[in-house]
Amino acid sequence: MRKTYIKICLIAHFLMNAVVIGAYWGDEGKGKIVDMLAANSDWVARFNGGDNAGHTIVANGKEVVLHVVPAGMVQGKNVAIGPDVFFNPKTFFADYEGVLKAGFRVNGRILIDERAHVIMPYHIALDAGGEASGKLGTTKRGIGPVAKDKASRTEDITICDLVSPGLREKIKAVVAAKTAELVAVKAIEKAADAEKYAEAAYAEYAPYAEKIRPYVGSCAYELNAALDSGKTMLLEGAQSTLLDVVHGTRPYVTSSNCTAGGAAANLGIDLRKFKIIAVVKAYPTRVGEGAFPSELGNYEDAKKEKKGETLTAAEKKNAVDGDQGLLGKWIRQDGREFGATTGRPRRTGYPDFVALNYSAMINGVDEWAITKIDILSGKPLKAVVAYEKDGRKTTRFPFKLEGWKPVYGNREYFWNAMAESEIKAAVAKGYDALPGGMKEYIRDLVIATKTPVSMVSLSPEREITVTKDVLKRTMEYLR
Ligand code: IMO
Ligand code: MG
Repeated sequence: MRKTYIKICLIAHFLMNAVVIGAYWGDEGKGKIVDMLAANSDWVARFNGGDNAGHTIVANGKEVVLHVVPAGMVQGKNVAIGPDVFFNPKTFFADYEGVLKAGFRVNGRILIDERAHVIMPYHIALDAGGEASGKLGTTKRGIGPVAKDKASRTEDITICDLVSPGLREKIKAVVAAKTAELVAVKAIEKAADAEKYAEAAYAEYAPYAEKIRPYVGSCAYELNAALDSGKTMLLEGAQSTLLDVVHGTRPYVTSSNCTAGGAAANLGIDLRKFKIIAVVKAYPTRVGEGAFPSELGNYEDAKKEKKGETLTAAEKKNAVDGDQGLLGKWIRQDGREFGATTGRPRRTGYPDFVALNYSAMINGVDEWAITKIDILSGKPLKAVVAYEKDGRKTTRFPFKLEGWKPVYGNREYFWNAMAESEIKAAVAKGYDALPGGMKEYIRDLVIATKTPVSMVSLSPEREITVTKDVLKRTMEYLR
């Protein structure tokens, strides 16, 4: 009781500081939620991952997709790229240009941590040509190889190295050490070409070094100083809990810490000053390989699908009547579940309360922000409440998910699509104005995870988000 009381006081005190992370396997709409919350924030700091992420923001009718730049840039806020971000300078400038092209002004400080690791051309070649890309279905952005170099401590190139005079020699030495690997993936034809390859990499990166020099600094010092002086801050996660390199569904995970604790460790800040908001898409999706117990249909069929395919009325009826493959396709198409980074179709599934309960525990989630719930309108749903394998049942999220079958709860959730006027009314009137079936689903999610909801997003648009009475009403479910 006392612990809860203290936690509530802390939360109230630091209301504006929040960590925003994903609950499932990524692509939950973290970009939209961070963008929304950024309005009340002085700083937005990205704490993990690299340009394997794709964060889409829709504001003023314009869509911006960011891969490494924190979402706060769109609102002219101070942005920081933390020391455990894998930094691809080419993507950074493309993101930046994209923000400007969409008509937004970049007003704030841009801080890139000197300790961050630089994604080099050879990381991308090794990722694309290596075993992981096929076996794990990586984004081929060089994430695994750059993480490996970080851990090696000898073949790493940090932002500090990038802006230091020894860059050319360092690249040469690293490429020399990797020559055999680079020949194996055909990035270079023969060992004798290694030096030429290194020179080309240097020639490409040296101009970036000059351009980013004014942004280079220390997140630990700048962010802590900002907090001490009363500035408000959001910590933006990429990927998600179930893709976390420690707690996720290994080996089908990314190479960084995606959890709330990862934010503290990676940025060097005190998590007690932050509330923890996990973005949970109303249905899970997954790109790449790995078990997915509540998957609707299968990955092989999904891979053949193109963005924009529509379902006939008969197919929709079959989906409603129980054809899971069609239901999965319908959600994928309505939800535009095609990668913002790679364009790959995403696998879709029924809501999974076992996975969310695990996420709530791992991250110490204070509040859920539910996104894309509008996509489920008109589609009958059930939710996973346990897993089963060889006659054994568990409500724990197994380390090795393979072979575990979902056990669904008895309840089916259904609501009809909301008209535009109803959506507007819900935004204005708050939680009580949401459809009954939707509220039943939210209630069961809250009870299963012992965690309330603070936001319900009904559209990619910043404004179409229900916040009024959401926390109050969903906390009542927990009494
Ligand atoms: P956002 O931030 C969804 C997945 C890849 C692959 C696995 C490993 O947009 O939610 P990697 O290239 O990281 O070595 O690939 O992780 N993955 C993501 N899936 N959203 C992301 O980011 C992801 N970043 C990586 O598909 O299965
Ligand atoms: Mg993504």
